[in-house]
Amino acid sequence: MIDRYAVFGNPIAHSKSPQIHRIFAEQTHQSMEYVSQCVPLDDFAQAVEEFMAQGGKGLNITVPFKQEALAVTGQLTERARLAGAVNTLVLSEDGTLLGDTTDGVGMVRDIRQNLQWSIAGRRVLVLGAGGAVRGVLEPLLAERPAELVIANRTVQKAEQLADLFPDMDTISGSGFDALAGAQFDLVINGTSASLSGELPPLPNDLLAAGAHCYDMMYGSKPTPFMSWAQQQGAEACSDGLGMLVEQAAESFYLWRGVRPETAQVIAGIRRQLIG
Ligand code: ATR
Repeated sequence: MIDRYAVFGNPIAHSKSPQIHRIFAEQTHQSMEYVSQCVPLDDFAQAVEEFMAQGGKGLNITVPFKQEALAVTGQLTERARLAGAVNTLVLSEDGTLLGDTTDGVGMVRDIRQNLQWSIAGRRVLVLGAGGAVRGVLEPLLAERPAELVIANRTVQKAEQLADLFPDMDTISGSGFDALAGAQFDLVINGTSASLSGELPPLPNDLLAAGAHCYDMMYGSKPTPFMSWAQQQGAEACSDGLGMLVEQAAESFYLWRGVRPETAQVIAGIRRQLIG
């Protein structure tokens, strides 16, 4: 039987994961199938069980099931535990499901390898304190930034995320007001503000000379955060399309043990987006 994989979400129609994983499979000569499945909101655990019983080898999990997926795992990676979410399930040899999250490592790979921006020793600001931000903190800290400030509209949520890393004195939480006067070398937008065409209230002069700006969202045109970054004199800015492809590549590697090539896939989806 062919090895079966899928992405589970609701809604799922616009997911690019099937397209990405099919290109990876072709490129690396892996015999496998990858589909998307819209899972009823009250049926996640059952749907996972059924998929695995029918020859499933692994799953990607997306909105709104990333937290719920924790409960179906037999083992959890440390980065998934700290993320409080799972985006990849891998069938282990003992038949249990390993839960991992590849979003953060995908973002860091896009920033470091594709964009060639450094994180080590840099002052990093992350905007937002929801699930998306929680998912990238551990891999970001592993790059050893000089400091990592999480700024959020609801300050308490930013502080709670910083508290997940009690041994790290480089990470802290704050509100947007408290950013006045501070400067950063890398600013990452992880708020969902872009979705509604909005921008968090950021002070001027937040960007140090040569600063880079990264939006975890992507689209057919620059996000409001990227436009702000350009106006503020950022040396370079990027959206999160590379993160999408890199998190998929990391999942693919976990399942198949081969690392696909991503540059052409990113360029291909970019061409589609621009139309
Ligand atoms: P996700 O899973 O995508 O991270 P989420 O958990 O709902 O989604 O978190 C959304 C994040 O975007 C939060 O940090 C939210 O700020 P609050 O915690 O104060 O609600 C932030 N956000 C959403 N719209 C925003 C806006 N217009 N300005 C600033 N922050 C915004």
